[in-house]
Amino acid sequence: MQISGDLSPKSIFSDRISDVPKSFIREILKVAIDPSVISFAGGLPNRKLFPVEEIKEATNRVLEEYGRDVLQYSNTEGFLELRKYIAQRYLEKQNLDIPVDNILITNGSQQGLDLLGKILLNQGDEAVIEEPGYLGAIQALSVYRASFRPVPVSEEGMALARLKAVMSQGAPKLIYTVPNFQNPAGISYPEANRLGVADLLRNTPTLLIEDDPYGELQFEGEKKTSFKKLIPENTILLGSFSKTVVPSFRLGWLAAPDHILEKLVIAKQAADLHTNNFAQHVIYRYIKDNNFDAHIEKIVSVYRSQRNAMIESIRHYFPQEIKYTKPEGGMFLWVTLPPQMSSMKLFEIAIQDKVAFVPGHPFYINKTEVNTLRLNFSCVDEETIQLGIKRLGRAIIQLPAA
Ligand SMILES: Cc1ncc(COP(=O)(O)O)c(C=O)c1O
Repeated sequence: MQISGDLSPKSIFSDRISDVPKSFIREILKVAIDPSVISFAGGLPNRKLFPVEEIKEATNRVLEEYGRDVLQYSNTEGFLELRKYIAQRYLEKQNLDIPVDNILITNGSQQGLDLLGKILLNQGDEAVIEEPGYLGAIQALSVYRASFRPVPVSEEGMALARLKAVMSQGAPKLIYTVPNFQNPAGISYPEANRLGVADLLRNTPTLLIEDDPYGELQFEGEKKTSFKKLIPENTILLGSFSKTVVPSFRLGWLAAPDHILEKLVIAKQAADLHTNNFAQHVIYRYIKDNNFDAHIEKIVSVYRSQRNAMIESIRHYFPQEIKYTKPEGGMFLWVTLPPQMSSMKLFEIAIQDKVAFVPGHPFYINKTEVNTLRLNFSCVDEETIQLGIKRLGRAIIQLPAA
């Protein structure tokens, strides 16, 4: 039998996957895997802080307590006790009243982004994205062929004039934000800026995705008001246990208004039926049987010292004209070189001296040469940070100006 049609490799793939950018960071990490390279390129939580023994105990207890029941299929929304705990924590820590029914457990917050793209975006729908923005969100929303409208973010928050200009051309479908200790820049939106963003969105159909995996990793400063508090009907709040417990469980959640949650549940059913039920029970047991706040304080104290070491070393070893953010939490710091310099060229020089980072361009839409770069401080000890920043300072001095 003769089968007709175009069998060239390109034709087997959907349009939706063809334009999705490959993770450039993965390529960089391949170079950085050499143990002699000091890597500020990763985006991982520090493995030394994983509560291995406590998780072992929680695992045994869950199996003893629930036996076969915990190994069965379960409901799409997630383990009720865990959802209640998440709701209770929002109330206690942020005075944020979210009904349990509005919380859906996801396979990491990354799945939340995918599900939101799936239920909200038709091809070409407009999505405002932070510039620089989280690469995983750019990737997830690209799959649904979003038309991105980048809006710059800085230590002053989201550029309100630009956002206003974008909104005046017609309400975008959604706005994606990481207002606390952002990935990649480590910045947080000041309180007044949040109010400004909320004012622009209130009474519009635009939805705001508030992605908050780092909010609990606060080193100093005031806790800022969540968009979920300011504009609850517009906001979908995403959370994660990846940075506060472990990322391998792939446990996150989202909180959304009723009509949106309803569609998300259908999309999740279609995607994977439900999030790993066993992992949900283990994490719940772990949190209940241990002092979770003390564990988070330990992470905060280690990351704070590492952030301090990085800033002190930058002051000491970088030329004065180099600008950098001073994150009040999270895992990243953002460096801006003078305008004519290329961070990709800097990478090529720096890697010869065995130090790695992520050049800024993958965090922008359609930019290939930029003068910015991301440094991660969560995975490198203080002494090594000092050595790595010294090498990077040396590389900057060697960098040609044009
Ligand atoms: C801003 C942001 N959102 C989401 C994620 C994904 O987190 P999860 O492990 O919960 O899927 C990350 C991970 O680095 C992140 O930085």
